[in-house]
Amino acid sequence: MTVAHQGLTGLLDTEAIRKDFPILDREIHDGKKLVYLDNAATSQSPRQVLDVLTEYYEKHNANVHRGVHVLAEEATALYEGARDKVAEFINAPSRDEVIFTKNASESLNLVANMLGWADEPYRVDHETEIVITEMEHHSNIVPWQLLSQRTGAKLKWFGLTDDGRLDLSNLNEVITEKTKIVSFVLVSNILGTHNPVEAIVRRAQEVGALVCIDASQAAPHMPLDVQALQADFVAFTGHKMCGPTGIGVLWGRQELLEDLPPFLGGGEMIETVSMNSSTYAPAPHKFEAGTPPIAGAIGLGAAVDYLNSIGMEKIARHEHALTEYAVQRLLEVPDLKIIGPVTAEDRGAAISFTLGDIHPHDVGQVLDEQGIAVRVGHHCARPVCLRYGIPATTRASFYLYSTPAEVDALVDGLEHVRNFFG
Ligand code: ALA
Repeated sequence: MTVAHQGLTGLLDTEAIRKDFPILDREIHDGKKLVYLDNAATSQSPRQVLDVLTEYYEKHNANVHRGVHVLAEEATALYEGARDKVAEFINAPSRDEVIFTKNASESLNLVANMLGWADEPYRVDHETEIVITEMEHHSNIVPWQLLSQRTGAKLKWFGLTDDGRLDLSNLNEVITEKTKIVSFVLVSNILGTHNPVEAIVRRAQEVGALVCIDASQAAPHMPLDVQALQADFVAFTGHKMCGPTGIGVLWGRQELLEDLPPFLGGGEMIETVSMNSSTYAPAPHKFEAGTPPIAGAIGLGAAVDYLNSIGMEKIARHEHALTEYAVQRLLEVPDLKIIGPVTAEDRGAAISFTLGDIHPHDVGQVLDEQGIAVRVGHHCARPVCLRYGIPATTRASFYLYSTPAEVDALVDGLEHVRNFFG
């Protein structure tokens, strides 16, 4: 172990943690050890989550809320138990404020559609404004563009500084008395930037606007307290936090969920139905039409148990130290330019970069040949690439099981890329 690695080892026992994740033992391309650095796209699941999923299908599989038989009752208890776990994980005041969706995109689309169909005082219409930022994932841009096009509401956004931070110098001009909703990302999936929530929330509250936070890249990596954030809605997804795909979460303040209309109609979200009209079940069921992602929610509950058993504070500290090391090592690579903050301060563990004029797709391919998995492209945040005048980036993203040795492997791999392309 090198001296540089020693400072990182006391934070988490990554050697023990890695044993929980069978996929991390994989070899690819004729015996190359997998170095998985694409955690911002999707994380891996530990045996503890995989076992819960298998046990659910082997022993308890049934539809929820509608059966009187044993399996239906067990499946319902497991599904609703997962809601309790998620509510506690994010410090929600009530379990009824946790809505299960299929992913963060669906959660954000749900908020946009609730507001589009709402009555006053929440209704978004041609006299109102919607505020987002230039560093949003497409899932926090397109739903608001659709809402703007359909209602005539004006879409506004905060721009970015040259060093990859939000430019809030015009906070009071962007968020005005006309603003109905401000929706922004807590930690950027492309820049890694951890945004200052308090200033934005304070201004939104001053003008009576609602606040929605996309916490997809935050919930997996740090303690998330929806009460401390003081937002009205918080969205995130299960597959980036050791859970399965197909499960997302929208947390919303109870009084809002009571007042706002449903988006999807169908079974399970109703109280009574006649041929002329229907009444709706209370939240969260009002927003969970049809058979929900039962196994996904149960798997997410197991992922929450797993993350809690390690400790979110410890995970955050480990990733911070690893990011600090990664930034420092990456900056040693000739011609490498980090797109986003170049220190670990107020920064998550996704690091995007360019490497001279070598196209990121070529970088990704040559890294993959060495067993190193990174993501290349615009990372579903194309406006960021436009802002910095680049077609795409290469992105390495770390998680609780990532190690300094993997950072070193990435840096060596990039040297190889540079040599390969002369
Ligand atoms: N949102 C995921 C990413 O950033 C897919 O890679």
